[in-house]
Amino acid sequence: MTLLDVRGLTVRTADGRTLVDDLSLTVDSGERLGLIGESGSGKSLTTLAILGLLPDGMTATGSVDLAGTQIVGATEKRLAAVRGRDAAVVFQEPLTALDPLMRVGRQIAEPLARRTCLKGAALREAVRGALTQVRLPEPERIARAFPHEISGGQRQRVALAMALACAPRLLIADEPTTALDVSVQAEMLDLIDSLVRERKMSVLFVSHDLAVVARVTDRALVMKDGRAVEEGAVHDLVRLPREEYTKALVASARRLESALDLRSAR
Ligand SMILES: Nc1ncnc2c1ncn2[C@@H]1O[C@H](COP(=O)(O)OP(=O)(O)OP(=O)(O)O)[C@@H](O)[C@H]1O
Ligand SMILES: [Mg+2]
Repeated sequence: MTLLDVRGLTVRTADGRTLVDDLSLTVDSGERLGLIGESGSGKSLTTLAILGLLPDGMTATGSVDLAGTQIVGATEKRLAAVRGRDAAVVFQEPLTALDPLMRVGRQIAEPLARRTCLKGAALREAVRGALTQVRLPEPERIARAFPHEISGGQRQRVALAMALACAPRLLIADEPTTALDVSVQAEMLDLIDSLVRERKMSVLFVSHDLAVVARVTDRALVMKDGRAVEEGAVHDLVRLPREEYTKALVASARRLESALDLRSAR
């Protein structure tokens, strides 16, 4: 069953520049799709358009059907019902998702309480469960902390816990490990991989790094200058890239991998 069906998505600025150009993609229930492309290729704008979160002044045309809701042109009320339940997002920088002035536990509790009607001890237990499930040690301490009192890797786990709290059908992860140290990156990728597999969730995983996408997804779409240039099974893209642009992405992923191998061998 198709969970996300994007057809002819085009994103333009107020002054008429086209930043995403006639893009189409689908994500089936339980499927994991990667979105790859160099910086500025339109990956983030695509994910924002899918969630109805485009910056002021930008407009989307085309069709984004998310679990039966048409996102393009939807009212805020409609979008609010979809976010968290049908799709949730983890951004590159966890501080985007976190309120610096609110304790971590409360930030997870609020959306949970809204969706589930849990209260008091049951709500606290659900928050504890959400933090434990993203493998945060000492969940009580983390719940009481403010975002600046925990590490970057812990903050990204908290952001993931928030995204997963209401059991969305689709997780959108936009460069969720790019801001993290290399060792923490690998742990975070393993965590996302095992959680989405356990829950049979669908994933749209965005990265400029093919090696990262290959770890979490089976199929990928390559973007360049706002357009789709190639799509296929990740192992085919890596072994037999057709487009020059994809070949260059594969070569740079190889260079990165061998650099990482050298680093771990040292
Ligand atoms: N708020 C904005 N106003 C104007 N132009 C923007 C805005 N956000 C992004 N752009 C432009 O749209 C294009 C696509 O940006 P986008 O952020 O989607 O790229 P990306 O593929 O996510 O890149 P990265 O890998 O660096 O995150 C870029 O040329 C960027 O400069
Ligand atoms: Mg981006």
